[in-house]
Amino acid sequence: MIKVLFVCLGNICRSPLAEAIFNHKIKQLKLTNHFLVDSCGTGNYHIGSQPDKRTIKVSTDNGVNIFHACRQLEKSDLYGFDYILAMDKSNYQDIVSLADSLELRHKVLKMREFDKLFHGFDVPDPYYGGDREFQEVYDILNRSLDGFIAHLRKMHSL
Ligand code: 4NP
Repeated sequence: MIKVLFVCLGNICRSPLAEAIFNHKIKQLKLTNHFLVDSCGTGNYHIGSQPDKRTIKVSTDNGVNIFHACRQLEKSDLYGFDYILAMDKSNYQDIVSLADSLELRHKVLKMREFDKLFHGFDVPDPYYGGDREFQEVYDILNRSLDGFIAHLRKMHSL
């Protein structure tokens, strides 16, 4: 079982959307049984909440079901997951600060490392944006997740 964790700040916009799109794609590829997928936030503002209603809208408008209850990142996540995908530099720094070995630090990756179009940038925080910003985040995640899944299929011969 390959364990994948998506991490943002609030766990109500970017990371639950990444989790939902990832689940949608692996289902289409008939690879669901190979993965355990979750998301969480570095912050504690929204623990227990459903995704933001704008996140639910952009997801369902694009044909992707989304279900998640917000939880906060815990140090044990660094041990329990194989791939930890940070949405931006700030999330990356917060996650890595909990990692006390090189082995744990190497599990932490930035989502847009896998974006063929804009390699290396952040997934922008859409919280103070509108529909356009949420669709932009959707498009970035959609592209980045194609790259990430291609990487996983190569690494794990799937
Ligand atoms: P997310 O967006 O990190 O993509 O879930 C945010 C959601 C809430 C807040 C910040 C970012 N907040 O400050 O409440």
